[in-house]
Amino acid sequence: MKLVLASKNPKKLKELGEILSALGVEVLSEDQAGVDVEVEETGTTFAENAKLKAVAVMQASGLPAVADDSGLCVDALNGAPGVYSARYGGPGLDDAGRYKLLLENMRGQLDRRCKFVSAICCAFPNGDIVEAYGECPGTLAYAPKGTDGFGYDPIFFVPEQKKTFAELTAEEKNAISHRGRALAQFREKLEVYKQTHKE
Ligand code: IMP
Repeated sequence: MKLVLASKNPKKLKELGEILSALGVEVLSEDQAGVDVEVEETGTTFAENAKLKAVAVMQASGLPAVADDSGLCVDALNGAPGVYSARYGGPGLDDAGRYKLLLENMRGQLDRRCKFVSAICCAFPNGDIVEAYGECPGTLAYAPKGTDGFGYDPIFFVPEQKKTFAELTAEEKNAISHRGRALAQFREKLEVYKQTHKE
């Protein structure tokens, strides 16, 4: 089975590529599949956005396509930044600018509960859809700590580890992260699909 990864993010391509190759799936980048798809993430949920991306790349390439959508949801902010995590504060901000803005918006807030969410969608040319979902609960830190990872990692504190995501090794993070959990579920569901679907 050939699958196109609907992402231009090298970190996601590597992570998804490794898991899928282990399943005996031949993984292609958009480049290798000869497509270059820009999808507007107009969905209101992570699952909707993952599906929008996967379906668009599947239709452009004629091959099954996998996409993921992820972000950070803060309880005290009614789930913000949520699906807007990558765009929080507008286009002028980088990762550090976004997490500083979030800390600013949480100043004085005692309820620091938050979670990372990841939704994965695989769209097949026959209309079949395989979806997976993962969450990782945590606590919003009061100041950034750690240098590894990306995005909101320096302010995402994991009480069990007494560390932020940015202080964990990639292996430690993958073992508990939203994306690690979604990928594990996706791997199981894709295996069932591969074994049981009819062409
Ligand atoms: P996407 O590429 O549209 O899925 O955007 C995901 C955004 O959510 C990223 O730009 C990050 O800001 C944030 N995010 C998702 N997963 C993580 C993570 O594991 N660590 C830190 N930030 C993350």
